[in-house]
Amino acid sequence: MTRTAFITGGAQGLGLSITEAALEAGYGVMVFDRDRAALDRLAAARQDVLCHAGDVTDAASIEAALDAMPSPPDLVVNNAGIVRFHPLLETTEETWRSVIDINLTGPVLVAQACARRMIPRGSGVIINITSTAGIAASPGVNAYVAAKAGLAAMTELMAQEWGPLGLRINAVAPGMIDAGVSAPIYRDNPEARNRRGGAVPSRRLGAPEDIAAAVLYLASDAASYVQGHQLVVDGGLTISVMSQLPRGTG
Ligand SMILES: NC(=O)c1ccc[n+]([C@@H]2O[C@H](COP(=O)([O-])OP(=O)(O)OC[C@H]3O[C@@H](n4cnc5c(N)ncnc54)[C@H](O)[C@@H]3O)[C@@H](O)[C@H]2O)c1
Repeated sequence: MTRTAFITGGAQGLGLSITEAALEAGYGVMVFDRDRAALDRLAAARQDVLCHAGDVTDAASIEAALDAMPSPPDLVVNNAGIVRFHPLLETTEETWRSVIDINLTGPVLVAQACARRMIPRGSGVIINITSTAGIAASPGVNAYVAAKAGLAAMTELMAQEWGPLGLRINAVAPGMIDAGVSAPIYRDNPEARNRRGGAVPSRRLGAPEDIAAAVLYLASDAASYVQGHQLVVDGGLTISVMSQLPRGTG
């Protein structure tokens, strides 16, 4: 029987790469996204994808999408997310709440709704897309740091509560990826792209395909004993603090 995948925010950016990799791996895919124009572009390009408009912060729209799937998903990728760039002192309560809502509360609502359907079957994989910003706080992205750190913690909680019931829950933390929410940082600024890429041990920025490959690994049976883990895919960025320091002379 065809395995099915439910991918939030899968109509563009990293999510689109994950969608393409899941299709390539033989999943029947439903993409759940709030951007109707991006969904229309995807539907025109790929007739084999079920496209569903909805919002991860709206439990009713999540339920409606899952009801439209032929079976409970085998794979859920909690990828939808937004980032807003403001120093903390200039962050309004409205911005704070909406970033937490979409990046933390939404993925938890999606995971709950999917787990309720997967647990009776006794199998399923959930992958939460976090960020290295939740590991080493990036100044200027305010609530995004808190939301991604919170989602990493919730990955561990879900693994403990739902692992014994047959599910596997892990996270992928992308570093600096030259696409999606980070595209504005690099667009028209090749110098920033080169400087940032050059500061990473792997000497390049990441590509969406790097993230999709990590997701597909965690989804596969090769990762059947990987539970509650956050797989950092950042070319070594977060472990490279010592190499940023001047060398001692002794
Ligand atoms: N691009 C990067 O450098 C980077 C780095 C670390 C983590 N991430 C994470 O990767 C994920 C994908 O980001 P991206 O860079 O591809 O961004 P993107 O903006 O290109 O794509 C995000 C998708 O999510 C959808 N979306 C946003 N809010 C939604 C909501 N409330 N309900 C349903 N859909 C919604 C958008 O319409 C869009 O299609 C996010 O969780 C992001 O935090 C990205």
